[in-house]
Amino acid sequence: MKMKKVNLNKKYWEKRYNNDKANWNAGTITPPLKFYIDQLRNKKIDILVLGTGHGHELHYLFQQGFKNITGIDFTNQAALQTAKEVSDFPLDKIVLGDFFEHVGEYDLILEQTFFCSLPRGKRREYAEKIHGLLKKGGKLAGVLFDCEFDGEEPPYGGNKEEYEKLFSASMTIKVLETAYNSIKPRSGRELFVIIEK
Ligand SMILES: C[S@@+](CC[C@H](N)C(=O)[O-])C[C@H]1O[C@@H](n2cnc3c(N)ncnc32)[C@H](O)[C@@H]1O
Repeated sequence: MKMKKVNLNKKYWEKRYNNDKANWNAGTITPPLKFYIDQLRNKKIDILVLGTGHGHELHYLFQQGFKNITGIDFTNQAALQTAKEVSDFPLDKIVLGDFFEHVGEYDLILEQTFFCSLPRGKRREYAEKIHGLLKKGGKLAGVLFDCEFDGEEPPYGGNKEEYEKLFSASMTIKVLETAYNSIKPRSGRELFVIIEK
């Protein structure tokens, strides 16, 4: 079967939000991300939220008093919806643009359904970019899928072996294990990761 080539650019993601095809939206911060954030003590660390989407993580960090938070996304269309529902949504913290062109230095980068939304051919570039955006000792933390999907369009799946190969080239994998607190539809199908530069 010939696969249709999809250009996963800003226009593509805006169309998915417009057509109500944001089926990754959990509607709130998910437990793996929340529990991880809840054990952080230093509220001054520089944090980047990848592919901010509806911005539940960004909003939660803001509510918990984290001072230096940034989201990166092609579009803030989904975050604008959330901002209508919550009066204190930090819309000004979202950088609109391509992650691969983003410049910055972070102590912590949060991942959830961003890696799986990128073209498979960009996975090596993602790992290199994360390495470039982290300060020494900085961490990538969050969840990555541990299963495959059938569709031609994202999400694209992945597995432990692939992540080990990808990230251990330049960083230290501290945690890479099945998340115990996933939301029900993702239960047993995602890995919690902490990767340190
Ligand atoms: C599947 S959604 C996940 C949203 C959010 N992380 C969540 O869990 O609800 C992927 C998001 O990443 C954004 N995105 C995809 N590729 C991007 C890129 N190269 N640069 C910036 N944002 C990108 C899309 O616009 C979309 O909002």
